[in-house]
Amino acid sequence: EKGGWPSFMDKEIHEDPSAVADTLLGRFDAKGDIALDEVHIDEEVFRSIDKIIVVACGTASYAGMVAKYAIEHWVRIPVEVELAHEFRYRDPILTHRTLVVAISQSGETMDTLMALRHAREQGSRVLAICNTQGSSIPRESDAVLYTHAGPEIAVASTKAFLAQIVAAYMLGLYLAQVKGTMFADEIRQIVGQLKAMPAKIQWVLDHQADQVEQAARRLSGARSFLFLGRHVGYPVAMEGALKLKEIAYTFTEGFAAGELKHGPIALVEEGEPVVVIVPSSHGRDTLHNKVISGIEEVKARGAFTIAVAEEGDPDAERYADVVFWRPACPTLLSPLVDVVPLQLLAMDMAQIKGLDVDKPRNLAKSVTVE
Ligand code: M6R
Repeated sequence: EKGGWPSFMDKEIHEDPSAVADTLLGRFDAKGDIALDEVHIDEEVFRSIDKIIVVACGTASYAGMVAKYAIEHWVRIPVEVELAHEFRYRDPILTHRTLVVAISQSGETMDTLMALRHAREQGSRVLAICNTQGSSIPRESDAVLYTHAGPEIAVASTKAFLAQIVAAYMLGLYLAQVKGTMFADEIRQIVGQLKAMPAKIQWVLDHQADQVEQAARRLSGARSFLFLGRHVGYPVAMEGALKLKEIAYTFTEGFAAGELKHGPIALVEEGEPVVVIVPSSHGRDTLHNKVISGIEEVKARGAFTIAVAEEGDPDAERYADVVFWRPACPTLLSPLVDVVPLQLLAMDMAQIKGLDVDKPRNLAKSVTVE
C-alpha cells in the first residue's frame, strides 16, 4: 500500500504534484470559466458575501493563511483566519453575508466541527474544503469543495496542504469572477499558472531532494530550528516549523521575518539553523530585499542559514549557507513549491534520527476530541 516507498509520508510527499493537478480537475465550464458545480450555493449569495472567516487547525490553518493573501488581493473583501478552537470563545462577528470556510483534511476534527456549528447557529453560511468524502465537516456544512489529494495516511499532513491551497484559490477566483473584481483574462492567466505548478513541484522533488537530505544529515543534531518568511512565505515558515517539530521532535519556531528585531533574533547564536523562505527575485523588489536582509542579520549573528529561493537568485546564493531552489513562479503560487523541501527536510531528519515517520509520538491523524 506504500507503493514501494519506505513510508506513507514519503509516498504522500511524492503525490504533491498530483494532489494539485487533481484538485484543479473538473472546475471549469466549456468556456474556461470557473464553475464550482459541486458547490450548491447560488451565485447571488456568493455575490453578497462581504467577509470570509477561515476556521481550521494546524496545517489546514496555514493553508487558510496562504489563501488570505490571495483572496484579499483578488476579491477585495476581508479574510480572517481563526484557529477553530479559539473561534467560539471570542464572540466572533458573523452575519448572513459572512462566508465561513472550514478547512480540514480528515473532515473529523472536532474543534473545526464545533466552530462551524457555531457559525451556522449565528446565520452564516459554511463552505467546507475537505479531503474526505462524506465525513462530518462536509456533511454539516452548507456546501463543500473537495480536495482531491487522495487518502492521506501519515500523521503529518503534506499533499493535503497543497490541495487545500488550490481549492481555496479556486474559491477566491470564483468569487472574483462572480463579483467582477477581476477580468476574465486575468483569472484565466492565474488558472494557467496554477496548471503549470505540478511540473514545478515535480522539478523540486526530482532535483532538490539530494540537497535537502545532505542538509538534514548535517543538521540532524541541532537542538532547535527557526523558520522565517514574509507575505505568503510566513505561513509556509509556520508550516515548515510544524512539520519538523511533529515528525523530528526538534524544537522549532516559525515567525514573520519582520518580527526578528522585535524579539526572536535574541535566540540566534552560533550555528543556529535558520530556514528562510525567500520571495521571487524577479525585479528584486522590496519584499525580496527585506527577506534577504533578514538572512544577513541572522548570519551576522552566527546562524547557519538555509534559504528556499528562486532558481538563480544571486542574493540567496551569496548570503545563504545552503539553498533549496524552486523554479520561478508568481509569488502567490510559490507556497505550493516552497513547502515541498520543508516536508522532505522534516521527513529526512526524522528518518536519520530513527523515528517513526508516519506515526509520531503523542499525535493522532485526526483529532476527534475538543
Ligand atoms: O484533518 P484536519 O485537516 O482537520 O487536521 C488539522 C490538524 O490536526 C492537522 O493539520 C495537524 O496539524 C497535522 N498533524 C499537521 O501535519
